[in-house]
Amino acid sequence: MVKLEINGKSREFDVAGDMPLLWVLRDEAHMMGTKFGCGMALCGACTVHVDGEATRSCVLPVSAVAGKKITTIEGVSATPAGKAAQQAWIAAEVVQCGYCQSGQIMSAAALLARNKQPTDADIDDAMAGNICRCGTYTRIRAAIKDAAKSPLLKGA
Ligand code: FES
Ligand code: FES
Repeated sequence: MVKLEINGKSREFDVAGDMPLLWVLRDEAHMMGTKFGCGMALCGACTVHVDGEATRSCVLPVSAVAGKKITTIEGVSATPAGKAAQQAWIAAEVVQCGYCQSGQIMSAAALLARNKQPTDADIDDAMAGNICRCGTYTRIRAAIKDAAKSPLLKGA
């Protein structure tokens, strides 16, 4: 049994400790917003926050996150940075097919939570591990810059 805190709620799962967190989220918790892409920590589709840090859930044994705070795309709007990112994503119409975008927003939200005025280089660094096969990178960068101006981030 593994006890996790997901989006502020405590939950228990009867799974092996070496099961990747992504599988627990999708197959056990039935939270489908976090996506499976490469399964090898290379594409960023599976990005969630673990204690606020953008983390690849596809290679992370669930036993490693017991007792830690996990935030997924389903819960990120409860944070100022997550809400600002989601609003900016919608305003900029970032999404194309959408497959990579929950991971993109999670990486962007983690960046904005720790750096409210990211430079282009900061954005490139934070987003480098999130691949978009539709090539939405220009709109992603614009959305992050817009999110940084959000009143939601003032005093957050
Ligand atoms: S599915 Fe985890 S990084 Fe690609
Ligand atoms: S929007 Fe299609 S993979 Fe990024």
